[in-house]
Amino acid sequence: MNPIKVGLLGIGTVGGGTFNVLRRNQEEIQSRAGRGIAITMVADLDTARAREVVGPGVEVVSDARAVIANPEIEIVVELIGGYGIAKALVLEAIAAGKHVVTANKALLAVHGTEIFEAAQKKGVIVAFEAAVAGGIPIIKALREGLTANRIQWIAGIINGTTNFILSEMRDKGLDFNVVLQEAQRLGYAEADPTFDIEGVDAAHKATLMSAIAFGIPVQFDKAYIEGITKLAATDIRYAEQLGYRIKLLGITKRREGEGVELRVHPTLVPAKRLIANVEGAMNAVVVNGDAVGTTLYYGKGAGSEPTASAVIADLVDVTRLATSDAAHRVPHLAFQPGSLRDVSV
Ligand code: HSE
Repeated sequence: MNPIKVGLLGIGTVGGGTFNVLRRNQEEIQSRAGRGIAITMVADLDTARAREVVGPGVEVVSDARAVIANPEIEIVVELIGGYGIAKALVLEAIAAGKHVVTANKALLAVHGTEIFEAAQKKGVIVAFEAAVAGGIPIIKALREGLTANRIQWIAGIINGTTNFILSEMRDKGLDFNVVLQEAQRLGYAEADPTFDIEGVDAAHKATLMSAIAFGIPVQFDKAYIEGITKLAATDIRYAEQLGYRIKLLGITKRREGEGVELRVHPTLVPAKRLIANVEGAMNAVVVNGDAVGTTLYYGKGAGSEPTASAVIADLVDVTRLATSDAAHRVPHLAFQPGSLRDVSV
């Protein structure tokens, strides 16, 4: 079977990572998807840089609409970000019958209802594992692994920039602005870091988890949002003396008969809790379900290849679903004959 053809809109850090991982792990990915996955077209305003990233054999254009108009492209990956042009392009891709994979939490948290409805009408998939907690497969955990559960609550460190700032302020006594600049230099922070430090980015992600966990529409406008800008070094020190750490948590909780809570704010967490010890730009999400109890998911919430890992997981899922071969619609184990070595214990 021919590989499924994918078009990429925007080739920054995550797009580059997606190319690298798809190339490096091509065999495994193809065997798991049941079909090759080929990015054949890329749109980016900086076509010269895009050509450098993708190398020969991939068509590079400056007009994203040329990707959407290409009848051979079955999946469009949106990595532009923001609510502006990205929204128009995602809706156009859906209208053109393309499946969409996106890392755009802001877009989905604010316009998700419209986008998911459009996709449902058209019979295409909008997949967004990379939008929440980067490389941590939390969307799949909520949708698949925990599907038997009535989710009671979710609490997570879902913004690496603020967790990095809080960790560095506590450990090194560094000033807020110095650490923020370092987070920007390391590529954790959003283009507009206000979204990170004011809790907006975490609220986007919590909104998406809330919608999936509780089966409600995405309602970012109803979230209570408080960031870390009002915290002083003394708050962090006093918390420490009392046996707590301050963490910016995204929390969503079922309240029987009263709906669902959705909030982001600095929270005092007892220092002995696992989540209190999540340091630097790492993310961690705790999910409580009635059957499973409390579960914890930990990993890199940003960065080129961790986020690419989530983008490609969605590409594999969409490829399986778009493939008529029913054997590949579910994850399967692809054993390589003779690949096991004897292990002496
Ligand atoms: N700015 C985000 C963060 C990037 O710091 O977590 C990943 O969504």
